[in-house]
Amino acid sequence: MTYTVFGYGSLIFKPPPHVVSQTPGFLKGYVRRFAQNSIDHRGTPENPGRVVTLIHIEDWDLFSSTDAFPHEDVVWGVAYTIDPAYEDEVREYLDIREKNGYTVDSVDIWGVVDGVEKVVVPQSTVYVGTIDNPAFVGSEPIDKLAERIWQCVGPSGRNKDYLYHLADAVRALAPESHDSHLIALESAVRAIDQLHGIPN
Ligand code: BEZ
Repeated sequence: MTYTVFGYGSLIFKPPPHVVSQTPGFLKGYVRRFAQNSIDHRGTPENPGRVVTLIHIEDWDLFSSTDAFPHEDVVWGVAYTIDPAYEDEVREYLDIREKNGYTVDSVDIWGVVDGVEKVVVPQSTVYVGTIDNPAFVGSEPIDKLAERIWQCVGPSGRNKDYLYHLADAVRALAPESHDSHLIALESAVRAIDQLHGIPN
């Protein structure tokens, strides 16, 4: 079976190697939230950043007392088809790149074909920080989350740059898409930049 991997976070703006084709698409039944600690990419063990994970909508309801964002938000991303000759190499690369609490799952990727919603990539591999993994932090008030993302830096760079790249990439991918949590968080972090006189 063809190996595809769905990127909904850094994989959107930093694709895996050995991609032979890409299919933009969206998920049903999930939200994307900055609810995963990052001690190895966008933060450190002393000062953990926040990166995205996917959460089943029903699971998120358990954590959402501080989350004001609607379920109508849609998780857009990109399904990458990997060259079969490099499948093992890419799996290994991603398992190492995304080792901090993420596990491998599979999800159907949806698209709109001739005006009708259809599964365009069945059962794509996806990396998910499940709600029971030690790096899962759950819901945080947006101001607190924005402050943390603004000040964290890790081996892969500034946490706020991860957020800005992701927001830009999702806008470019699906200009009509709704991800109000992502956009509200971007605005909150850019507002902190402005307070500090950093140009947007
Ligand atoms: C991604 O889809 O970009 C991704 C998200 C979390 C962990 C690994 C990859």
